[in-house]
Amino acid sequence: ALCASAFAHAENYPSKTITMIVPFSAGGPTDTVARLVAQSMSTSLKQTVIVENVGGAGGTIGAARVAKAAPDGYTIFLHHIGMSTAPTLYRKLSYNAITDFEPIGLVTDVPMTFIARSNFPAKDFKELLAYVKANKDKVTYANAGVGSASHLCGMLFMTAIDTELTTVPYKGTGPAMNDLLGGQVDFMCDQTTNTTSQIKSGKVKAYAVTTKKRVPSLPELPTMSEAGLPGFEIAVWHGLYAPKGTPKQAIDSLATALQTALKDATVKQRFADLGTEPVAQDQATPEALRAHLKSEIAKWAPIIKKAGVYAD
Ligand code: MLT
Repeated sequence: ALCASAFAHAENYPSKTITMIVPFSAGGPTDTVARLVAQSMSTSLKQTVIVENVGGAGGTIGAARVAKAAPDGYTIFLHHIGMSTAPTLYRKLSYNAITDFEPIGLVTDVPMTFIARSNFPAKDFKELLAYVKANKDKVTYANAGVGSASHLCGMLFMTAIDTELTTVPYKGTGPAMNDLLGGQVDFMCDQTTNTTSQIKSGKVKAYAVTTKKRVPSLPELPTMSEAGLPGFEIAVWHGLYAPKGTPKQAIDSLATALQTALKDATVKQRFADLGTEPVAQDQATPEALRAHLKSEIAKWAPIIKKAGVYAD
């Protein structure tokens, strides 16, 4: 019965609203990417794609929700690099990142920035390093929970400076940014999709970008190598998924709509304004996301184990 109904749906798919789950709070970087893509997909699929934020536990609560959702093509999932780190960080994860999902395609690869509250007493990254080490029991680092990109960047940072810091977890770096703007937390490493406007308005202090090359929309920010931590490199890739068992015809329609979104002039302009760009069309495919997710899980596992960081 399920197969028949799922197949029937696939015939005239989509015949109703699609829900795109985002595993972090509204107003954060993942949410920003999701809403831009959902807006365009609504147009090309001629059905509303609504975004639902299911935050908590570094994105794993949202992922678990999708893993258990009906595989009928009406629940999809936009997540990032955290899809590949959670399997190592969480030893009792309630889902399997590979076998419980159907990949649809890669979306974008977003740079990260080291930023601090506007009155943080360091004028450049070298002073930030010195200050953080000298005040390691006082400074606070914000992230979106174990498994988030801000957590991963923080883990790499603390490993690089061999210093454990107090971290303050939020359900997303949207809320974290509010506390940074209010001076309630000291600094964080967050994606340009969330930090660009605050950096340009001077409401936060920015020290470096975490990509190999400088970010065109933030040309004054040095790379981590220029700033004093050579080889420190992280960018946040994003993928679109559906629950395992979603009919192939639905997956194909969703992948086509994703590719259309990534060619959309408005999406491309907004991505550029926010320091990023869509992946190439041949990366917005199930095969490309499947391969990338597998290689990223294999890449991060030894790094996380060496850092000795676990959520459970
Ligand atoms: C993260 O740190 O993983 C994201 O920036 C969280 C978010 O999108 O809010």
